[in-house]
Amino acid sequence: MMVLDELWEQSSQLSDEYSIEFHKGEIALVKNIFKYPEMVLKFQKLLSVWESTGSAKPGLMSLKMPPWTACHIADELFDWDYIDKRSESEYIYFYDGNTTKWNEQPDNIVTNECYLPHVDSDAGGYEIIGLVNLNQKNVRTGFWSYMGEMAPDDELVDEYYEYSSSATEENYKDKINNGILNHEFDVEYGFNDAIFYHSRILHQPHIDKFYTRENPRIMYRTCYTLDEDDDCDV
Ligand SMILES: [Fe+2]
Repeated sequence: MMVLDELWEQSSQLSDEYSIEFHKGEIALVKNIFKYPEMVLKFQKLLSVWESTGSAKPGLMSLKMPPWTACHIADELFDWDYIDKRSESEYIYFYDGNTTKWNEQPDNIVTNECYLPHVDSDAGGYEIIGLVNLNQKNVRTGFWSYMGEMAPDDELVDEYYEYSSSATEENYKDKINNGILNHEFDVEYGFNDAIFYHSRILHQPHIDKFYTRENPRIMYRTCYTLDEDDDCDV
């Protein structure tokens, strides 16, 4: 039976010429991350794609890939103490007007259109997320703060979700940049560039009208679970 292991090992080799810079000390931007980005882009065609379900990853998602598929990336770029067997990677596909399946709040603009930010982990989560842009067009990820905190604790996250639950597409601009919920900055990155950020940081993908279900914004996403006493920079 054919397996994909070797093909992924070849496709996902890191470039010899990547560079890393940090935004506000919190978000790592890695430029020119893969040696063969076209192969990484092509690889996703070998995976099954599903409707996203009940998460802040509205659109479509591939089946998750095994832990080892992501480890060599973190090992070469960073000095984190993470639990390798809990790593994972996948492809995600966002598009304008997307939603998720089994969504208890279909009008929620945090989990659907992503006009407002979210955190990527459940209570107590301690993960680093990586996103590689596989589109021939720059993408932007917005970073936010709630009550002055870009990485609010669990209690504050609950308070934020309560605050954002009354926001609608029509009124949300009245609820932002008011000292309570602030859009701090965007990180813009091109084809084969990646960002890595702590899952507790409030963030939001900008999904422009250009992306449709048939032509979605394709990202390769990794997730690493840190040992809790790791004091990494991102
Ligand atoms: Fe996210």
